[in-house]
Amino acid sequence: METAEIFRIEGMHTSGAYAKRPVALVRGKGARVWDSDGREYIDCIAGHGVAILGHSHPDVVDAITEQAERLMIAPESFYNDRRAELYSVLAPKLPGDLGRFFLCNSGAEAVEGALKAARFFTGREKIVAAKRGFHGRTMGALSATWNPKYRKPFEPLLEDVVHVPFDDLKAAEEQIDDQTAAVIVEIVQGEGGVNPGSGEYFDGLRRLCDERGALLIVDEVQTGFGRTGRWFASQHFDLLPDIMSLGKGIGGGVPMGAVVWRESLGKLSPGVHGSTFGGNPLAAAASIATVKVLERDGLPERAARLGTWLLEELWRIDSPQVKEVRGMGLMVGVALRSRVTPVLRKLMDRGVLALPAGPTVLRLLPPLVIPEEDLAQVVKAVREVLEEDRG
Ligand SMILES: Cc1ncc(COP(=O)(O)O)c(C=O)c1O
Repeated sequence: METAEIFRIEGMHTSGAYAKRPVALVRGKGARVWDSDGREYIDCIAGHGVAILGHSHPDVVDAITEQAERLMIAPESFYNDRRAELYSVLAPKLPGDLGRFFLCNSGAEAVEGALKAARFFTGREKIVAAKRGFHGRTMGALSATWNPKYRKPFEPLLEDVVHVPFDDLKAAEEQIDDQTAAVIVEIVQGEGGVNPGSGEYFDGLRRLCDERGALLIVDEVQTGFGRTGRWFASQHFDLLPDIMSLGKGIGGGVPMGAVVWRESLGKLSPGVHGSTFGGNPLAAAASIATVKVLERDGLPERAARLGTWLLEELWRIDSPQVKEVRGMGLMVGVALRSRVTPVLRKLMDRGVLALPAGPTVLRLLPPLVIPEEDLAQVVKAVREVLEEDRG
């Protein structure tokens, strides 16, 4: 289909919920994507952090091709070999005794499930979330999400959700009480500006939750599966969450999410939660392949190494526009003194796709397999754009 035709038809039917860039992506391989005019880009968006193995990784393609021919759907009211295999490869990678899973289809659904599980296991209502936190846009997840721009049009949301400043233990301490079902946090706030929290903060949250009988939900939808240089970002701080929400990279590009919780919390009871597509063998096969490739190719370690290099190189950019460079592994943000949108546009003109994280932060979420030369090219493009704009 011609580019103009794609724009015309999408324009006619699209929801309007997305601000679209004037490019139609039609093909991807590794860390590269191509548009409908054949233009090539280095992809540091990676489907908003989904394509951790890059686009169309051969192991994922093989796994889903084979599974598609065998069995695509098997409800959770039956057992299934792929699901069993997924649990057996994924559970050993998770911190502590996180060993019970509810499989679903997206990050927001994983957060919904995590909030429901917390209420179910504690019998309490209150949720303590963080300012600048992002947990998705379904009604429950949106209640935990902070940004008023996303929340306002849909209020009233869940009652008894409070937002406290992130990385501020004192503020959390004032809100976590004997009515609190859960505290929900990200280890590195993604959408909120690529803000990593501190070890003392997470240690303190763990202690407060233990003392007051609340559960600690760590939302690893964006930080999970090697993105930050460890399998899960909680592991940087030896943090043992009670519940974790997973999404994005979990299926290597296939839509999937998961809620995982500690064995010691017990099980849900039949009917209290469910999902038609949750735990389908096609997504499970993709996820098994993803976990195996991450392990075989040492991708979390690679993300740690490349991420350290990337942070150093970005700090070297000599531009008054750069306020701060921060991040963990291959989840990196460049905080600017001006709006990020023109920078994103200029990067795209130079063949690099990057994301915003709020109005003034440039976010890079490249696939963990990105070749070093490509990453060097990304740094060069960012440097050129920011140094060119010195005023
Ligand atoms: C930390 C976090 N939680 C939840 C979500 C929601 O995931 P999804 O867009 O798959 O619903 C996101 C998405 O960006 C996220 O970054």
